[in-house]
Amino acid sequence: MKAAIFNSYGSPEVMKIRYVQQPSIKDDVRVLIRVRNASVNTFDYLCRKGFLPIRLEHGLTKPKNLILGIDVAGTVEAVGNNVTKFKVGDDVFGSCFGSHAEYVCPRQNVLTLMPKNISFEEAAAVPCAALTAMQALRDVAQVKEGQKVLIYGASGGVGHFAVQLAKYYGAEVTAVCSASNIQWVRGLGAHHVIDYTKQEFTDNGKKYDFILDAVGKRTYFSCMRSLTETGIYITEQPLRPKYHPFQLMVGPMIGRKKAKLHLTKPNDLDMEFLSQLIEDNKIRSVVEKCYPLEQIVEAHRHIENGRTKGKIVLGM
Ligand SMILES: NC(=O)c1ccc[n+]([C@@H]2O[C@H](COP(=O)([O-])OP(=O)(O)OC[C@H]3O[C@@H](n4cnc5c(N)ncnc54)[C@H](OP(=O)(O)O)[C@@H]3O)[C@@H](O)[C@H]2O)c1
Repeated sequence: MKAAIFNSYGSPEVMKIRYVQQPSIKDDVRVLIRVRNASVNTFDYLCRKGFLPIRLEHGLTKPKNLILGIDVAGTVEAVGNNVTKFKVGDDVFGSCFGSHAEYVCPRQNVLTLMPKNISFEEAAAVPCAALTAMQALRDVAQVKEGQKVLIYGASGGVGHFAVQLAKYYGAEVTAVCSASNIQWVRGLGAHHVIDYTKQEFTDNGKKYDFILDAVGKRTYFSCMRSLTETGIYITEQPLRPKYHPFQLMVGPMIGRKKAKLHLTKPNDLDMEFLSQLIEDNKIRSVVEKCYPLEQIVEAHRHIENGRTKGKIVLGM
């Protein structure tokens, strides 16, 4: 099968298109999927660059897993003996390593049936970004109706889902993005939008119950004064900026405000919930651009640029 592979860490140009062995169903609960689309995430470019903390798990001097990709949308081509949820021909989406290739073979418990009202491109954009936003708001923040939530980095992959989900949970949503994305983010449901190039939100005197840093550009200390007395700052970025580990430890010791780190937990139940929200037109994924697999280098340049509006995906 065709796949985008990398044999060494480095710039986007290390990504090459090669023919590699197709995966096969190794145990009874796996599903062989013909990949139609797969999204490109920040995690992919951090892996490709060989970001030091990632090297500790993914290979110190060279990558252990040559194929990147953590989200998939495609069609089931074969199922293991104990697969109960899917049959050949089903269109599915979910979380899966190695999805920048024509075939993947994940376990059934990270997949769910695709909503009927979206394309494969739109479906591929959902799993990691939407799970991240949803789990942060529902599980970490436990957002309730009427609470004030600020989403920092509202126009990115995680951010654009976070705006819609915070609205769905009944929050009063303030979104922070740059000028060119203001109208679009308002259209996603934000009640207030702040252009971070013109105004520092921490200077406006407003207090928020939750600040979700959906792009890893802020620190707890820089947001503290904009939190209510029991407010929580949530970061998705465990490793940047460099003061996060210290702030996450010290933060909770100061008053009743809290700093929390959230790590995404892929699972089919949460995917089913998201799928239902999409089918009910409560949330939607926005794909800024779909690159053919052959343009993997351009796709990596795009995501590394850090200005993606919604998501970018690859088409097989
Ligand atoms: N912990 C986990 O399990 C987990 C899971 C998923 C993602 N993440 C992390 O979450 C972060 C976001 O990922 P993503 O895929 O959503 O990123 P992304 O789509 O690449 O984010 C791009 C967005 O960031 C905005 N942005 C860039 N610089 C900004 C700044 N200085 N201030 C405010 N906004 C800025 C841009 O908006 P403008 O163009 O309007 O500036 C753009 O829309 C990454 O750090 C990623 O590693 C963590």
